[in-house]
Amino acid sequence: ARAVLGTRNLVLVGLMGAGKSSIGRLVANQLGIPFVDTDIEIERVSRMTIAELFEAYGEAEFRALETRVIKRLLKGGPRVVSTGGGAFINERTRRHVKRSGLSVWLKADLDVLWDRVSKRDTRPLLKTENPKQTLENLMNSRYPIYAEADLTVLSRDVGKDVMVKEVLAAIV
Ligand code: S3P
Repeated sequence: ARAVLGTRNLVLVGLMGAGKSSIGRLVANQLGIPFVDTDIEIERVSRMTIAELFEAYGEAEFRALETRVIKRLLKGGPRVVSTGGGAFINERTRRHVKRSGLSVWLKADLDVLWDRVSKRDTRPLLKTENPKQTLENLMNSRYPIYAEADLTVLSRDVGKDVMVKEVLAAIV
């Protein structure tokens, strides 16, 4: 799998709760290449949490920062790059991602996602009256776009080791 990548990145996309960060880190370990997480990098450079950024500057500013950060992170592959759920939805970002390497959509169904995201309260987009409905709306609007990723791996509750194996198997 490592040889298939060469200097290309492996970029994980998909909705919140799909496991992009936790699986991405383990996949990078297996491949012996660096792991970066765009949300963590955004928090590092801004010295604010994602929630604080949304609150202080709004979503549009967050997206602008996200686009810049990702463009920079994609340079200097090979890396495993876990993206925030909205990143791949941006057309320019999508183009950068597709040029820089292999994209993998971690696809999950609503109940799997909801079960995971409802355990934490860190997602500003889900601070709505009916967050599960909001998540479903995001699925409906974004799934056709995530489907443009090079590969799709179904994210289920089968244990992280199994998920890591499936991602590695998908790229060879
Ligand atoms: C977002 C997903 C989050 C984070 C921000 C917006 C989205 O990342 O970037 O809250 O638009 O789906 P995760 O997918 O890592 O939760």
